[in-house]
Amino acid sequence: MPSTITINMNKKPIYDIRIENDFKALPEAVAGLGFEGKRAAIVSDSNVAPLYADEIKTLLEGVCSEVFVVSFEAGEKSKNMDTVTTILRQFVEHKMNRHDFVIALGGGVVGDVAGFCAAIYMRGIDVIQVPTSLLAQVDSSVGGKTGVDLDAYKNMVGAFKMPRLVYMNTATLKSLDARQFYSGMGEVMKYGLIMDASFYEWIISKMYEIHDRDADTLEEMIAHCCACKQRIVERDPHEEGDRALLNFGHTIGHAIEKAKNFELLHGECVALGCVAAAYISFKRGKLSTEEYYEIRDMFVPFKLPISIDDIDAQNIVELTRSDKKALDGGIKFILLKRVGKAYIDTSVTREEILEGVKEIEYREDNE
Ligand SMILES: NC(=O)c1ccc[n+]([C@@H]2O[C@H](COP(=O)([O-])OP(=O)(O)OC[C@H]3O[C@@H](n4cnc5c(N)ncnc54)[C@H](O)[C@@H]3O)[C@@H](O)[C@H]2O)c1
Ligand SMILES: [Zn+2]
Repeated sequence: MPSTITINMNKKPIYDIRIENDFKALPEAVAGLGFEGKRAAIVSDSNVAPLYADEIKTLLEGVCSEVFVVSFEAGEKSKNMDTVTTILRQFVEHKMNRHDFVIALGGGVVGDVAGFCAAIYMRGIDVIQVPTSLLAQVDSSVGGKTGVDLDAYKNMVGAFKMPRLVYMNTATLKSLDARQFYSGMGEVMKYGLIMDASFYEWIISKMYEIHDRDADTLEEMIAHCCACKQRIVERDPHEEGDRALLNFGHTIGHAIEKAKNFELLHGECVALGCVAAAYISFKRGKLSTEEYYEIRDMFVPFKLPISIDDIDAQNIVELTRSDKKALDGGIKFILLKRVGKAYIDTSVTREEILEGVKEIEYREDNE
């Protein structure tokens, strides 16, 4: 069943998240936002554009004065300033003005790049997020964070840019390859672990339906994740406090992502980071042995890694220090009090991080 979640700030509605199973309602939604007669730039990547851009272009041509597609090569490696410059040039060539708008059609990379282009083009034009990967539907399309990587620094340059609408068609998940799908499950599990124990139990109880990508189950799961993210971003839109809880698993996760030169997917690294952070929580006496192993082992049915070979644990610890968040005045590490309750801890030491990383280092007895 299609559903809508409204994001409010200071008790005022800012934008809707529409969870649909086709693109049919998009033209009406676009017109409703006052974009009739405006130009639409569909920004997408080389995998998603061939699948969905034409359909959206045709649908919007009845509403907009011009609809054009700008596509860049898929993958995290494109998430940089060069791609941004190329896209902005296309905006100029198509004479985009301040009243025109961007449609970010794709996964988290497209959402971050296109959202950032919208944030800076002519000091900001509107953007509609149309996320197509599970990760983007449950996480990155909501909340208004946009940006690109700079050299080894992930998401180093960016802006907060609230979308005017997030429109997701859950049927697009059918074309997502299995590894990408399960990568998104890393973030889904994260919501359960940090803030919602009953949702965590629900995910586990729906394991088989999730594997089968049962449409109703996915819709319910995505809506629940968006509601979790809504609660957090409404409370803390600019990450001054609680929003950092969403970084559970990400300090070590990002470091692994970098160390492995982005060969592992974001959600896979998040899963590893969650295991390491759960281990640190366990060592601090917050979680029992059983709780820790249960958390660790629950990633396995969702085809996410819980150990990794060929890493230099010391190097991973160093990389956690070069994280953008670390530059911003020390690491705010996210630990668990129990399943469903995370907290921010600024006292986690280098040694503890090292121990956490060593715990997920592949060993014969660790599989
Ligand atoms: N802004 C935020 O708040 C936020 C939050 C979490 C993650 N992120 C960012 O999101 C990125 C990861 O997102 P991602 O996992 O979606 O990566 P991605 O955008 O690279 O998408 C993964 C792959 O799936 C393909 N794809 C996407 N949708 C598809 C579909 N429906 N059918 C077939 N193929 C499809 C893409 O072309 C790509 O090859 C990272 O850069 C991360 O930093 C941002
Ligand atoms: Zn993430």
